[in-house]
Amino acid sequence: MKPTRSQSSLLCLLLLLLLEASQASPQESRRPNFVLMMVDDLGIGDLGCYGNKTLRTPNIDQLAEGGVKLTHHIAAASLCSPSRAAFLTGRYPIRSGIYGSGRNLVFILNAAPGGLPGTEVTFAKIAQQQGYETALIGKWHLGLNCHSSDDHCHHPNAHGFNYFFGIPLTNLRDCQAGHSTVFQIQKYLPFRTLGVVLLTAALLHLCGLVSIRRRLILGLLSLLVAAAGLFVGFVTLFPYFNCILMRDHRVVEQPYVSENLTQRMTKEAVDFMERNSEKPFLLFFSFIQVHTAMFASARFRGSSQHGIYGDAVHEVDWSVGEIMQTLDRLGLREHTLLYLTSDQGAHLEEISAGGEVHRGWNGIYKAGKSTNWEGGIRVPGILRWPGMLPAGREVDEPTSNMDLFPTVVRLSGASAPEDRDIDGHDLMDLLQGRAERSKHEFLFHYCSSSLNAVRWHPPNSTSVWKAFYFTPNFYPENETSCSHTHICFCGPGYVTYHDPPLLFDLSRDPSETTPLTPDTEPAFSSVLAVMNEAAEAHQRSVTPGESQLTVGGVVWRPWMQPCCSTFSQLCQCQQDEQDEKTRW
Ligand SMILES: *[C@@H]1O[C@H](CO)[C@@H](O)[C@H](O)[C@H]1NC(C)=O
Repeated sequence: MKPTRSQSSLLCLLLLLLLEASQASPQESRRPNFVLMMVDDLGIGDLGCYGNKTLRTPNIDQLAEGGVKLTHHIAAASLCSPSRAAFLTGRYPIRSGIYGSGRNLVFILNAAPGGLPGTEVTFAKIAQQQGYETALIGKWHLGLNCHSSDDHCHHPNAHGFNYFFGIPLTNLRDCQAGHSTVFQIQKYLPFRTLGVVLLTAALLHLCGLVSIRRRLILGLLSLLVAAAGLFVGFVTLFPYFNCILMRDHRVVEQPYVSENLTQRMTKEAVDFMERNSEKPFLLFFSFIQVHTAMFASARFRGSSQHGIYGDAVHEVDWSVGEIMQTLDRLGLREHTLLYLTSDQGAHLEEISAGGEVHRGWNGIYKAGKSTNWEGGIRVPGILRWPGMLPAGREVDEPTSNMDLFPTVVRLSGASAPEDRDIDGHDLMDLLQGRAERSKHEFLFHYCSSSLNAVRWHPPNSTSVWKAFYFTPNFYPENETSCSHTHICFCGPGYVTYHDPPLLFDLSRDPSETTPLTPDTEPAFSSVLAVMNEAAEAHQRSVTPGESQLTVGGVVWRPWMQPCCSTFSQLCQCQQDEQDEKTRW
């Protein structure tokens, strides 16, 4: 039977409707793009939406107004490399081996074999498998090579990022002329001892008390010169060898010029989103600011009341605004989950050689970067996804930067790997208000490989208990920083051990001012008993990954040195050419 005209047009209409419906199936519309922004060393108290009154961060504040603001968002570690490893993999850094020993706590040289192991799975890798275009723009700080100067086994590309523009290592004071050095090696070279021995010997010799062979004096003298040469050489060569800018697998600037770096990165991010506006994409935008060496481009210099540090925060906020505007312009606002955080608290030891404040503000929270006091790990956490997440909501429950892993993985349409422990929890129920309570009943805080503190948010209670097994020794003692060593370290000699542990209830004492005692807290013993048991069970369940930060993992190997010219030219390359062409 032949269909009549009206029957066939009805059929057509039905087909069209079906097609329409399949295109807008909830599955599809819910697979968002991801723009994950991480600022370096930004203090939680530096943002308007977290209470700052003098720095202007209108774009970030607007992000918070349009989304969910986390007020108890915890970085899994208080230093860059481990915090970033945990963020990317959803796992405590002890599991992936991003922990060191002694004073070795982050990656400091490009020409060394340590890095995020290839067996680790990042959310970028999973999103890539799900058909996402992925990019890392900015800082990586999780290693580069394994054996040679360009095997790139730890390169972002090997961890799921299709595109990379940025620095494989980290920004450091040494990366900018006139900003001094973070390496206080002169402290460790035996200058003083050698000097004293030499002087005594010379005096004794002069007074005729002993007759010392000229050769001995000359030997000691040359040792002194060699030690000084080593130090000067290291500090002089450091920027050429380590402050490098890469585009994908190519070194394009060595050493990099930091002044306009955020401008250039922002342009890269905008280009990336434009290129991929028709496909799902994941962009990890990892700011070089506001870590030292401080910089800000000309249009932001002098814009704040807080010196170059405040100017840098203003520039970060501008960049966030550019990214938000680009999403609006491309019609992707409702299709993109935006996240903004900091890798850890402000670095309180950062005062410039000239006495200028180069550190941020951690608000009411105690101490800062490199400690597990709240100031070191309580970071901003803002998530926006219009239409899917409520606007203006605040979540005070404990969350972790490791939670982004399961959240991103599930939203990208995949399920979390089952062959390994994942320590983060999917945030969506909490963000959308379907759940009132965080799934993190316990959080564990490591200093390197040592369990430093435990956080317990018991079910049906408003308390958030925190117990410290040790705390860093501050210097000067009346401050909450370790200015003698630039960061706080973890082991004997640097910390004070506590038995019983120092106990706080953060719901009553968020600034961790007064440790509780059995007299001030009736539940003291029973609370600690539960926490100790949880800590022991956790430690029994963790198999530490092979450390990537052993001395062997970080020591310089000349044959692994990335070099865009020749050694004799100090590996210098002037300016990224592609960048020159597309300058704003
Ligand atoms: C705002 O941030 C600046 C720079 O970190 C800091 O010096 C200042 O104390 C903060 N202000 C408030 C009100 O938190």
